[in-house]
Amino acid sequence: MTRGRVGVLISGSGTNLQALIDASREATFPAEIAVVVSDRSAALGLERARLAGIPAVFHGARSFAGDRDAYDAALAGLLHEHGVEWVALAGFLRLVGSALLDAFPWRVLNIHPALLPSFPGLHAQEQALAAGVRITGATVHLVDRGCDTGPIVLQGAVPVLPGDDGPALSARILRLEHQLYPRALRWAVEGRIQVVDGTVVVTPPPGEDLTLGVVAG
Ligand code: GAR
Repeated sequence: MTRGRVGVLISGSGTNLQALIDASREATFPAEIAVVVSDRSAALGLERARLAGIPAVFHGARSFAGDRDAYDAALAGLLHEHGVEWVALAGFLRLVGSALLDAFPWRVLNIHPALLPSFPGLHAQEQALAAGVRITGATVHLVDRGCDTGPIVLQGAVPVLPGDDGPALSARILRLEHQLYPRALRWAVEGRIQVVDGTVVVTPPPGEDLTLGVVAG
């Protein structure tokens, strides 16, 4: 089996990265993680990558003096050097721009801790608590030029429970994210996410759905 080569971009602890690493260790998983890139040198996810024997690269913004296009162009070059075909943002807390998106057209995935289009941007879990919603969740979507606006691939839901605070709700959503992201990445490299006349069409394999139901606890 030829496995799709994926670059994972992170900024932090990398628990979603770990879920992708664990999935990619399964013999039948059709993707391998070719490189992990962080915009923060201290990101724990870089250590997770090294422990898994995956090239781990710190790509800081400082030397680009605020030139976002130059940063993204260098990032695209780095990913190409590692033979990357798909890019997975996993808690990468920078907006990615045209220089990266044009290098990987409709091949950049993101995971977001809310049911988009509700609660885009930062602190989605706190936004959900403040809004008083009873159900929230996580979304895997293709990245476009907006902030968390791209076509939705897969969503799952969790309840907001009485007494929840940000950390409790975030932990519940993260457990869901760890189920969603490997599934969506598998669909991506299997060619199940296609753009037809400008519209993204996702065709899950038999027995799989475009949603995960409300996962309690
Ligand atoms: C995850 O909850 C992810 O959905 C979120 O950052 C966290 C990263 O956790 N991403 C965003 O909010 C992007 N808008 P992790 O480093 O443990 O995977």
